[in-house]
Amino acid sequence: MIAPSLLSADFARLADEVARVADADWLHVDVMDAHFVPNLTLGGPVVEAIARVSPVPLDCHLMIEAPERWAPGYAELGARNVTVHAEACTGDPRDVARDLRAAGALAGLAIKPGTPLERYEDVLRDFDTLLVMTVEPGFGGQAFIAEVLPKVRRARELVDTGHLTLLVEVDGGVNADTIEQAAEAGADVFVAGSAVYGADDPARAIAALRARATA
Ligand code: DX5
Ligand code: ZN
Repeated sequence: MIAPSLLSADFARLADEVARVADADWLHVDVMDAHFVPNLTLGGPVVEAIARVSPVPLDCHLMIEAPERWAPGYAELGARNVTVHAEACTGDPRDVARDLRAAGALAGLAIKPGTPLERYEDVLRDFDTLLVMTVEPGFGGQAFIAEVLPKVRRARELVDTGHLTLLVEVDGGVNADTIEQAAEAGADVFVAGSAVYGADDPARAIAALRARATA
């Protein structure tokens, strides 16, 4: 699945930019609070507006503190998948997963490049998606950190051996070159910001990424 990240879109033309990626599987929306990450993007009111015009389901990536307080609200706005950062959860991440599912969304857990997967293998049983960050969260346009790929491989193995039922997602620095490594490691969902919105024709960029991921 290809999930273009709206972070690299022209925020002055949001509805048009959303329409340009109608061929995608999910639309990835990065919510940042200037506390969990040193950047501030958008929140509930803008996500609500995007949800109204988006032809594809929303994949909300919450890079915020106190995700247990805010995450269910994004599910209630109709997001298909809502991902919280494991590092930001103050309580048991399984409580957030339960609230997200109760609100009708898939529940996602994200881990930063330096966060070990083993720490969360048990709680992942209650999640539907695992987002393995392949850059430090906060900004688009950074270089893919290939050293993170063993975590993708390990997650794939846990899914393939029946220990977990998860979609494995990668986010950060994914482009036509790096997507092959991520696909080979076993990712299911590929987030791409600059590789899609930086292209002259986002629809063609999405098709090219899809072709490379399944090659
Ligand atoms: C970074 C965001 C990513 C970002 C990816 O913190 O989570 O979703 O938009 O952008 P690219 O694909 O340009 O690395
Ligand atoms: Zn993201």
